[in-house]
Amino acid sequence: MDNTTRLQYLEAMGIDVWLPRVVPVQEQASVPDAIAENILPEPEPEPIDTWEALQAEVVPCTKCDLCKTRTQTVFGSGNKNADWMIIGEGPGQNEDQQGLPFVGKAGLLLTEMLRAIGLDRDEVFIANVVKCRPPANRDPKPIEIETCKPYLLRQMALLKPKIIVVLGRVAAQALLNTDEPISKLRGKIHALNDEPVIVVYHPAYLLRSLLDKRKAWADLKLALQTYKNIKG
Ligand code: URA
Ligand code: SF4
Repeated sequence: MDNTTRLQYLEAMGIDVWLPRVVPVQEQASVPDAIAENILPEPEPEPIDTWEALQAEVVPCTKCDLCKTRTQTVFGSGNKNADWMIIGEGPGQNEDQQGLPFVGKAGLLLTEMLRAIGLDRDEVFIANVVKCRPPANRDPKPIEIETCKPYLLRQMALLKPKIIVVLGRVAAQALLNTDEPISKLRGKIHALNDEPVIVVYHPAYLLRSLLDKRKAWADLKLALQTYKNIKG
């Protein structure tokens, strides 16, 4: 019995016959060929960011109006392998003059706050949400924050901190994308990507409002405990 006749018999008996589909040779070869002939684009490699490249962009930046009144940009400073990242709002007068973050009176208090939880300033990395001083120390405007924030996010991506301490309402709201008041944001553990974020009253505010120092101390202890829990 030849094959065709056999199939006819089987079909007549109600038996489904499944024949393997023969895939034409060109069809099988089509995808690799397309890649070889550059018909399909190869995936773009991720550009590699570096601290040097980032700083070279920030130093001459004129992306928002704050560039018109600043003396110089304040990139941030500290240990680029730090587990701790401290984020403030923006440079004040002293910072604008020296090109370094938290070097005025609020900076002295910040140094003391860090010391209180056993941290030296050169063990942490300190940066601000905006890199240029707002005139007369006004709050940075939302457009200025949005324009400058990518620099901060790149700093975070480069540093890969284990914990982030955010100082004050403006920085906390900017970083956590919220309108909640600082009284609601402090005292808990937030997360950004996979990193814990603790909101603490800004040292400049604490200099004016001694009553909230106790809450700031509680928040610093929360930050330290959170960090210890991560380190195990
Ligand atoms: N306040 C801030 O938020 N940042 C500084 O660098 C100095 C004061
Ligand atoms: Fe550029 Fe930020 Fe300065 Fe605006 S505040 S000019 S975005 S560095």
